[in-house]
Amino acid sequence: VERITAGDTDGRLVLKPTQYGDLSSLRLESCHRQAPRDDEVEVRVEAVSLNFRDVLCALGMSEAFGDEPGAALGLDCAGTVIRAGAAAAVSPGDPVVVLAPGCLATYVTAAADLVIPLPAGLSVAQAATLPVAYLTAWYGLVRLAGLRAGETVLIHSAAGGVGLAAINVARARQASILATAGTGAKREYLGRLGIVNPMSSRSAAFAEQAREITGDGVDVVLNSLTGQALEASLDLLRFHGRFIEIGKRDIYAGTRISLHPFRRNISMHSIDLIQLIKVSKSLLSGMLAELAPLFADGTLPPLPSATYPVTAAATAFQSLTTRRHIGKVVLTLPV
Ligand SMILES: NC(=O)c1ccc[n+]([C@@H]2O[C@H](COP(=O)([O-])OP(=O)(O)OC[C@H]3O[C@@H](n4cnc5c(N)ncnc54)[C@H](OP(=O)(O)O)[C@@H]3O)[C@@H](O)[C@H]2O)c1
Repeated sequence: VERITAGDTDGRLVLKPTQYGDLSSLRLESCHRQAPRDDEVEVRVEAVSLNFRDVLCALGMSEAFGDEPGAALGLDCAGTVIRAGAAAAVSPGDPVVVLAPGCLATYVTAAADLVIPLPAGLSVAQAATLPVAYLTAWYGLVRLAGLRAGETVLIHSAAGGVGLAAINVARARQASILATAGTGAKREYLGRLGIVNPMSSRSAAFAEQAREITGDGVDVVLNSLTGQALEASLDLLRFHGRFIEIGKRDIYAGTRISLHPFRRNISMHSIDLIQLIKVSKSLLSGMLAELAPLFADGTLPPLPSATYPVTAAATAFQSLTTRRHIGKVVLTLPV
């Protein structure tokens, strides 16, 4: 990754593609820092997690999934507070974990209520794995589905970042877990975590297997699969089942589904973190405050991750597109 210096700057470098659609065109570009307002903090970014949304943005597909055209990369990171607005609960020098669109940069100015202290004993790379994956899993399984002890949850693509966070959340709720993943290596990994009979996410055959295991289906599904696999998952819900949709593909494609499974008093919810940051930030800050003590006491541990220096950003982004990685991919800064 080269640096592009645009004249007079104050040291902020931002990772962006020079050509959308070409992951090998990711470059560090000089940019200006932004002084924090009263309700903001400026953070020196030391580790940034990659989310699937970053790949879509770099490929120039952000608009197709409801994001801004040319949306800045990065959504969650860890680092050190440099400047803090008067209303911020953290101070310069504090190590923090942050939810901040556009944080794939050496500095980010973030909303102070989307910043929590870095949990003691975690590295910045470990801490950067926490916010997006756990907020998505927590909002879906706890807030929306109200997952209870003894219920069964089906977690699709469970070896990814959100999937592994969801396993930890489901265990904290004392729920039983069924899970799918796309490769034998990922299913073996899930088996080592104690998941019984991990199933394939590459066909709808999991539905029959899940029925064989449970007898009558599941209480909650956390879904990012599309098409037939989505419909088979919906049809797998027991009476009062809850379906949590985190994939955006079928939503933006306007896919039609049969309402027949709804005869069982089931409900369906959708999640879009990017929209929540824009329209419902207090919901996210409330959940981050709820999660912070669970991160601190290890109830919700950091996710396994592959860490790359930002200079290897293209390789890191490409690894997300292969469907082979387990857990999170993290970029470390500064260069
Ligand atoms: N709505 C939201 O606010 C929100 C927030 C976070 C994540 N998500 C969504 O949740 C899913 C998981 O996100 P994540 O951050 O955990 O991502 P991740 O760690 O990269 O995991 C993504 C998983 O999705 C599966 N997958 C399906 N199609 C894929 C493709 N074309 N390229 C790469 N992987 C593909 C793969 O699992 P298998 O091959 O094992 O099935 C992969 O392990 C994604 O669909 C993401 O868009 C949504």
